[in-house]
Amino acid sequence: MSEIVILSGSPSVNSRSDLVLRFLGRSLQNKGFKVTHVSIKDVPQDVLFEGKFDSPVVSQIAAKLQGARGVIVGSPVYKAAYTGVLKALIDLLPQDVLEDTPVFPLMTGGSPAHMLAIEYTLKPLLATLKGQNLKGVFVTDNHIDKTNTEQPIINIETHERLTKQLAYFVELLNRQKSPIV
Ligand SMILES: Cc1cc2nc3c(=O)[nH]c(=O)nc-3n(C[C@H](O)[C@H](O)[C@H](O)COP(=O)(O)O)c2cc1C
Repeated sequence: MSEIVILSGSPSVNSRSDLVLRFLGRSLQNKGFKVTHVSIKDVPQDVLFEGKFDSPVVSQIAAKLQGARGVIVGSPVYKAAYTGVLKALIDLLPQDVLEDTPVFPLMTGGSPAHMLAIEYTLKPLLATLKGQNLKGVFVTDNHIDKTNTEQPIINIETHERLTKQLAYFVELLNRQKSPIV
């Protein structure tokens, strides 16, 4: 079972949001968590396009999410919302797949004008899966250095927001799922 599952909704091969998600994943690994990355790019096109609910890939992703202590879901903003392919995958998952699970929403976008997409699109979507949403973080493209895979966050305030939100995520994980003695 994975402790933390990071789900990427970007269809891009050279993805900015993936860079930020990998950065968060490494930070969690440095804190001792086991992290598994899942991407919509792992899902065959016919599964998404033909709505194959019974596909083994979908069952495996659902099982990973259901077994996770916490989940990070990231998506670029596409036309003021999350990507269509992320929604296509989420449509195939059980409706309570994130029940009782702390969820860290992350979005990247070209324009700060669309920073509220995280509030009006991604968080409501995750709430339908019964995830316990954190505030989340929106990162604009000019705060991401695509050439630096180790430390892609080049804006101090954004780095601080990500770090603070991650610390809160970890606190929530430790509070909610600590074993009863
Ligand atoms: C089809 C498409 C639509 C986009 N729509 C928006 C948008 O409405 N608002 C915005 O701020 N950025 C928009 N962008 C920019 C992306 O959100 C931004 O570059 C993001 O960081 C890309 O992440 P990725 O590299 O992980 O795909 C769009 C990009 C594409 C390719």
